[in-house]
Amino acid sequence: MRESLSRLPLLAAILTGTLLPLAAHAQLPDPAALAAVVQFNTMCSNCHDAECSGRMSFDSGAPAAHAHIERHLGGPASETQVAALFAMLRLVKETCRHYPVVPIRPARGTWLAEELAPWHNPQAGAYFIPLGKLAAGRQQIHLEFDRPADGQARVDTDRMEIVAEERLCRDENKTIELDASGDLEHFLHLKSGQAILLRIEFRRAGD
Ligand code: HEC
Repeated sequence: MRESLSRLPLLAAILTGTLLPLAAHAQLPDPAALAAVVQFNTMCSNCHDAECSGRMSFDSGAPAAHAHIERHLGGPASETQVAALFAMLRLVKETCRHYPVVPIRPARGTWLAEELAPWHNPQAGAYFIPLGKLAAGRQQIHLEFDRPADGQARVDTDRMEIVAEERLCRDENKTIELDASGDLEHFLHLKSGQAILLRIEFRRAGD
C-alpha cells in the first residue's frame, strides 16, 4: 500500500507531461522538431511575432496555409512540416510567448560551434538560440564569428520583449549587454549572413 502510494506523484507527472522538460535536458530534441523551431523563428516570426492578437482565425487550417508557408520557406515543404509550423504559430498566438524550447545547457562559460550548429538556418543566414535563464545582474553575451559579419543580434524574453539589440557591421566579435532578472527565459535572434558562430561566451559585466 505504502509503496503504491509513493509512486503516485511520478505517475501524475508522467500523465500531465511535467516530466517531459526534464527528459529534454538530457538529450537534444528530435532533429526534425528542432529544425522546425529554428525555421519558424528565423523565417516566420519576423512577420508573425508582433501581433499577439486574435486577428488570425486559423479556420482555413494547415492545408490552406501550405502555399503561403512554402513561399516563405523558399521551397517545397511536407505536410508534416507545414502542420508543425502551423501548430507552432497557433501556440505562439494563443499564449503570446515563444514556442517552448529547452536550451542546450545552462548559459555559463562557452558554447562552441558544433553545439550551436543545429540552431542555424543557413538558408536564412540566421540563428535562433534559446539561452534559458541568465543569472541576475548585468550580463554580457560575447559572440565570435568565423569572418566579418553583417546583420543584427537581438535578445528577447519568453514574452517576446526585446531586451538588447546590436547591429553587426563587418564585426568578427560582438558583445551584447543586458540586465537579467534571473527568472526570465531569454532567446537570441541572430542575422549574420554567411558568417558562422564559432562560439558564444557568457560573462558577468565587469569580470
Ligand atoms: C512577410 C510576412 C510574412 C512571413 C515571413 C510569413 N507570413 Fe504567414 N501570414 C502573413 C500574413 C500577412 C498573413 C495573413 C493573415 C494576417 O492578416 O495576419 C499570414 C497568414 C498565415 C497563416 C494563416 C492563418 C489563418 O488564419 O489561417 C499561417 C498558418 C501562416 N501565415 C504561417 C506562416 C509560417 C509558418 C511562416 C514561415 C514559414 C509564415 N507564415 C511567414 C505574413 C507573413
